[in-house]
Amino acid sequence: MQKRILVTGGAGFVGCHLCERLVAQGHQVIAVDNYYTGRRENLTALLGLPNFEALRHDVTFPLYLEVDEIYNLACPASPVHYQRDPVQTTKTSVLGAINMLGMAKRLGIPILQASTSEIYGDPDVHPQVEDYRGLVSISGPRACYDEGKRCAETLFYDYKRRHGVEIRVARIFNTYGPRMNLEDGRVVSNFIVQALRNEPITLYGDGRQTRAFCFVDDLVEGLMRLMNVTQPLDSAVNLGNPVETSMAEIADLIISLTGSRSPIVFRPLPQDDPRQRCPDISKAQELLHWRPKVSLQDGLKRTISYFEGVLSRMQDPVRRVEVARANS
Ligand SMILES: NC(=O)c1ccc[n+]([C@@H]2O[C@H](COP(=O)([O-])OP(=O)(O)OC[C@H]3O[C@@H](n4cnc5c(N)ncnc54)[C@H](O)[C@@H]3O)[C@@H](O)[C@H]2O)c1
Repeated sequence: MQKRILVTGGAGFVGCHLCERLVAQGHQVIAVDNYYTGRRENLTALLGLPNFEALRHDVTFPLYLEVDEIYNLACPASPVHYQRDPVQTTKTSVLGAINMLGMAKRLGIPILQASTSEIYGDPDVHPQVEDYRGLVSISGPRACYDEGKRCAETLFYDYKRRHGVEIRVARIFNTYGPRMNLEDGRVVSNFIVQALRNEPITLYGDGRQTRAFCFVDDLVEGLMRLMNVTQPLDSAVNLGNPVETSMAEIADLIISLTGSRSPIVFRPLPQDDPRQRCPDISKAQELLHWRPKVSLQDGLKRTISYFEGVLSRMQDPVRRVEVARANS
């Protein structure tokens, strides 16, 4: 059945992939975005299609549309961007959630919240299960994002309890893939761009801190399955790849896949940077019959080839890598 689907943050990294999948399924999709970190180029394949519409709007302000489902993704996701204007980050999470939940309540439709593993903070339980309450700093530089997302989740549960809104809350762990923003400082894009430019790869701390990296196509599949769950849900579901990788391992893998000659340099660990992150996805497996399928190696190859294209369009010294490869 064709649905009218609203995706907030639709011009962002995850949002544009989600919009593409929904449009390909024949749905009528509206991407709402204020282009804070998102880009119109992310929507190039969709703009002009009869079942797609892009609307410039800031979710901290009310919005009135007639739709059948809402995916609420609007919020900068990388520390560089969410720390640039921390007050706006919290407003986006909290006021954005209130405005979108208000719409879902008025229309009696399901709404999915893109929450985050950041709500677990620097966890002392490992791997992280959904009922773990987290170890989050209320005052540190990441708090605008972590606490904003926590408050947004609380609003979701209260709208469900008080107003019967059909909610889905996805706790997303590190996701990577084509169309990540070149300059947002996330580990995979940083390392790939540094490697392609033969520049030093910066490892924070001793490089032993871990993350679990999920390829964007797998995440989008998980989000869509979660939206389509038929039984009532009143708690969050982790979505991520349960394969833990250290920063040093991923740097080595990217160097080898790009054939780069980048040296590795060490820098102090940023404040409140979590030491370990890995999802327990038993709930997603049971409820959604979902687990990531794309291996880190394959996902990285696809992401590297995307960034090679971006850098060569920018006439970037990426060519140095090609020369280095040719000479090796
Ligand atoms: N990518 C990840 O690894 C990851 C991990 C955990 C959670 N998430 C969550 O998934 C969602 C999407 O993340 P992403 O990686 O695509 O980030 P992104 O920064 O690429 O996309 C976020 C989008 O939201 C838009 N936006 C920001 N503030 C807005 C506002 N006030 N009004 C309207 N639009 C606004 C941005 O312009 C951008 O297009 C976010 O909510 C993020 O917190 C992502």
